[in-house]
Amino acid sequence: MAHVADADPVLDCCTMDAGALPWVVPDGPIEVLLGEHRTILQVLDEVERESRRLEAQGALRETFWRDVLRFLDEFDDGLHHRKEEHLLFPALEAAGLSAEHGPTAVLRNEHLRAHGWRLRLERALLERDRTRLGAAVGGYLDLARAHVLKENQILFPLVQRLLPAADLERLGAEFRPLLADQRLRCWIRHPYAEPAPA
Ligand SMILES: [Fe+2]
Ligand SMILES: [Fe+2]
Repeated sequence: MAHVADADPVLDCCTMDAGALPWVVPDGPIEVLLGEHRTILQVLDEVERESRRLEAQGALRETFWRDVLRFLDEFDDGLHHRKEEHLLFPALEAAGLSAEHGPTAVLRNEHLRAHGWRLRLERALLERDRTRLGAAVGGYLDLARAHVLKENQILFPLVQRLLPAADLERLGAEFRPLLADQRLRCWIRHPYAEPAPA
């Protein structure tokens, strides 16, 4: 399997499972978010592998975990959540979804909960507490994977139903300053490496 450090972000956006969602407009805002979800899921897979390795071997690779925190702050929160919370969700709420009780309210709350797990992860790392680190990773992985699935399967079809083409075009333009650049290639500098088969 290709590691995150080898992943081509541009290619990722193009080869995402957009084929399974025939309404996705190439280069549209939903395709951008789907591409980012794919990157997030790749990083989560790396985190899970590293966490298993930590459990089995005990050695804490601080550079790996620092990279994960940087990814969560700069990519997940800084670029991805910002597109959703500041641009997409308000557009959906303007189109009629309740900001208090609708799906966007649930998703905002999950972003907050994810941030809580991220803080726990950092604390465990500072204290070099492997047990707490494992618990924080487990909590984060469960929440983040379910969240991505919910957005892909429920939110994005809703976007297509509620937002006219002009709104999608405007969102695409508003997303542009928040697109990840080539730095994406080195978010996780030293991903977990499977031992070569004997
Ligand atoms: Fe989200
Ligand atoms: Fe998302």
